[in-house]
Amino acid sequence: MIRSMRPIIVAGNWKMHTTPAEAGELAATIAGRTHVPDVVRVLCPPFVCLQRVRDRLAVLPAGQSVAVGAQNIHHEAAGAHTGEVSASMLDGLASWVIVGHSERRRDAGETDAQICQKVLRAQEANLHVILCVGEQLADRDAGRADNVVRGQVRGSLEGLQPAPLEDWDRDAFWGPSPWLTIAYEPVWAIGTGRNARGADAAAMADVIRETLGSLGFSDQAHEIPILYGGSVSSTNIDEFMAEPAIDGALVGGASLKPDEMAAIVARAGLTAAARAAAATA
Ligand code: PGA
Repeated sequence: MIRSMRPIIVAGNWKMHTTPAEAGELAATIAGRTHVPDVVRVLCPPFVCLQRVRDRLAVLPAGQSVAVGAQNIHHEAAGAHTGEVSASMLDGLASWVIVGHSERRRDAGETDAQICQKVLRAQEANLHVILCVGEQLADRDAGRADNVVRGQVRGSLEGLQPAPLEDWDRDAFWGPSPWLTIAYEPVWAIGTGRNARGADAAAMADVIRETLGSLGFSDQAHEIPILYGGSVSSTNIDEFMAEPAIDGALVGGASLKPDEMAAIVARAGLTAAARAAAATA
């Protein structure tokens, strides 16, 4: 019997790094070094690199595809917003999008209400969303990390209709297609070299799933993948992939390094293989 299972996802957020030429080369190198059965790979270069990365990845053989994601979209569908990019403009360039990254909350003052609109725009454009949530260090120290993350999940999804989970469009994977993936990224762990403990990330994943249930997403609360992000590297990925509540990683700095990505995806592949075996048992 084949039971449904959550996919294992490793997404790379390249942030404001790489030129189009560099990005194409890097994507091809990473794709070649990270082909592991049942791991969903997503590379998120800057907007101006999407076309080049997509073109380089389009030639991969069937069953080895690597998805392309954008790092942001605007919360309006179109309009007088100089320098912004809408969800529908990603048509043919990206099939995933990161929404609500803490660096955008910090640098662009994004609010949960805007992030909620972005999720809706992404749904309208059939993009897979990686919604980022995570507390500041002061929140964790004060014991309010759970409440902060609960509030972000609520504020970013309240009022939205969950999109249906459809079969994943890949020959190598039979789980439900995640229209929504949540990345738990404690802000104090991003780019700092300091990572959360695996057990803390797993506990937060439980809080997030509980919150999804209370939002009316109860049918999907156990199907929506939850990733950990924040200084993920080859040396700490094991700690997160060993947690059944964690379904992969959103990787920043290390995603620009092919050796690191190869090791991270290889470790993720062990968990993916174990889940695949359990699903067919
Ligand atoms: P980091 O970034 O891995 O460099 O900490 C993670 C992220 O910002 O998504």
